[in-house]
Amino acid sequence: MYEKLLCLSFLLCAFSVINAKFPVDPKPCKYGDTECILKISNYFVKEKFQGDDAINLITIDPLKVAKINIKQGAESPVNIDLQFVNNNIEGLKSVKVAKIKGFGNDLTQKHAIHFMMPHVSLVGDYSINGKILILPISGNGKSNMTFVNTEMIVQFSGEPIQKDDGIHMKLKDIKIKFIPERLHYYFGNLFNGDKALGDNMNAFLNENWKEIFGEVQSSLESAFKQVVEAVLNTVFSKYPYEKYFVH
Ligand SMILES: *[C@@H]1O[C@H](CO)[C@@H](O)[C@H](O)[C@H]1NC(C)=O
Repeated sequence: MYEKLLCLSFLLCAFSVINAKFPVDPKPCKYGDTECILKISNYFVKEKFQGDDAINLITIDPLKVAKINIKQGAESPVNIDLQFVNNNIEGLKSVKVAKIKGFGNDLTQKHAIHFMMPHVSLVGDYSINGKILILPISGNGKSNMTFVNTEMIVQFSGEPIQKDDGIHMKLKDIKIKFIPERLHYYFGNLFNGDKALGDNMNAFLNENWKEIFGEVQSSLESAFKQVVEAVLNTVFSKYPYEKYFVH
């Protein structure tokens, strides 16, 4: 009898491990219930920006970015070799998820997440060399690029990945688009620390922020795409896709 109980409790225990699912608090959503998914996403951004093991969410504020390379050839008016090293993305905790599409029971369909970012900065070390709208630029030091009231649209479809515990979702064909209301650039220590030249260049960059952004937009978007993809893939690697939903 005792042996049977033991066996039973062992089975239950094994079962509870196999049956690991999306945490119950907050309550999970039904497939495709985009209003509910919107609320849950905002909960995680606001309350769990320091990370949450329950859904494999890494710390998103600050979000560490080891390296971003932006290299544009002479055919671009912004002909630069720009490298950000050991940067943090700051301010994601104040981001609002504004709209959700997809997340139905067919994970291979199109999904979209629209974020509104009031104030998000990329801060850290940089080095730059090249020409911006015919002006030569060079320097290395600390930089701060801040997006103000920027919409970020993330679109992807899911790729089913068969694992021991079921079918997981991996992001596929991810696309990112930024629609900024304003961008602020700051590059410290330009031109070997020549303050007058550096101040002038920073003023020039900020006066022409829109035109410059237009030129570097796709490089920036593809850099952020890798970051967003890594965060979301880590989240969805934790459980089979169906476990993120109530049925
Ligand atoms: C980056 O710049 C923005 C404004 O342009 C500012 O609000 C923010 O505090 C700066 N961040 C750091 C770490 O300097």
